Amino acid sequence: SFSTTASSAHQQPTISRITVIGGGQMGSGIAQVAATNKHEVTLVDVSQAALDRGQGYMAASLKRVAKKKYATDEQAQAQFVDEIMSRVSLSTKPTDAVSRADLVIEAVVENLKVKQELFAQLSKAAPAMAILASNTSSLPIGKIAEHLDDASKRRFIGLHFFNPVPQMKLVEVVRTSEADEAVVESAVAFVKAIGKSPAVCKDTPGFIVNRLLLPYMMEAIRLLERDVASAQDIDTAMKLGAGYPMGPFELCDYVGLDTIKFVVDGWHASGEGLAGNPLFAPSKKLDELVKQGRLGVKTGKGFYDY
Ligand code: NAI
Repeated sequence: SFSTTASSAHQQPTISRITVIGGGQMGSGIAQVAATNKHEVTLVDVSQAALDRGQGYMAASLKRVAKKKYATDEQAQAQFVDEIMSRVSLSTKPTDAVSRADLVIEAVVENLKVKQELFAQLSKAAPAMAILASNTSSLPIGKIAEHLDDASKRRFIGLHFFNPVPQMKLVEVVRTSEADEAVVESAVAFVKAIGKSPAVCKDTPGFIVNRLLLPYMMEAIRLLERDVASAQDIDTAMKLGAGYPMGPFELCDYVGLDTIKFVVDGWHASGEGLAGNPLFAPSKKLDELVKQGRLGVKTGKGFYDY
């Protein structure tokens, strides 16, 4: 070859075809953003009903964007939505759906065994060069990939999006110790191509954002437990004193108290160097609210009533 730039044995092709596995809150958002930015997307879920729901999320979100973009022109709005949705195919067959993918992004339930079993299949069904990525929030990327062959471990990374995906600009690109540099670079380029900003980090619990946010939220709950101030005053203080867009209790309610408890308990019990770390010790207050079903915005009650 006379090429001077394509010298790497692991040169990655440009990413244009994406398969997203799991069409829930996150997966449908990822599919929407990729399709909006001219990628061909296949969205996979376990049933037609789940796919219909995912498609409904995307269409509703795109309609809101279209309304802002084309204020009174209903035809232009419909055209905008249809054009983007035309790039999204739906499937209930994960192995078929990844057969031509450049990048597979998994966004199914937060369950290690489910993810491992899924990738055991996908790593065989996807093209050998396809990048394999998980959107997990709290599971180690290396653990999800641990039973895969070495070549698949080299193309396996984390791509951690934030909720709501269409609005949140950040994607954490999680590099395991085994991942190829070319794979990481290609993923970074993909993140930029879909209009997001990448932050690359090592495969450690919580990556960057959640590793810093969870201790902050837990410390806020502990302030409340010690009766230092009301939830409202703590929220006001952090919004006006630290310039945060939401106070810690608004944020807890938005994220979901069950989710926070699940992650914190997992890290405190077993987590990858965090076991026993007092930052993640259980909180009576949090446990009580979860037990009462006060999970935050999604149940209408959390630290606040909605
Ligand atoms: P969700 O419950 O809204 O969606 C999960 C979807 O996956 C459901 O539609 C379900 O039917 C489908 N699914 C389950 N098993 C499947 C399988 N074997 N094959 C195909 N589809 C399957 O969950 P959500 O919130 O979208 O979370 C998905 C992932 O994203 C989790 O790993 C979570 O940790 C991560 N995440 C969640 C964030 C959030 O704020 N909700 C933020 C960042 C990451």
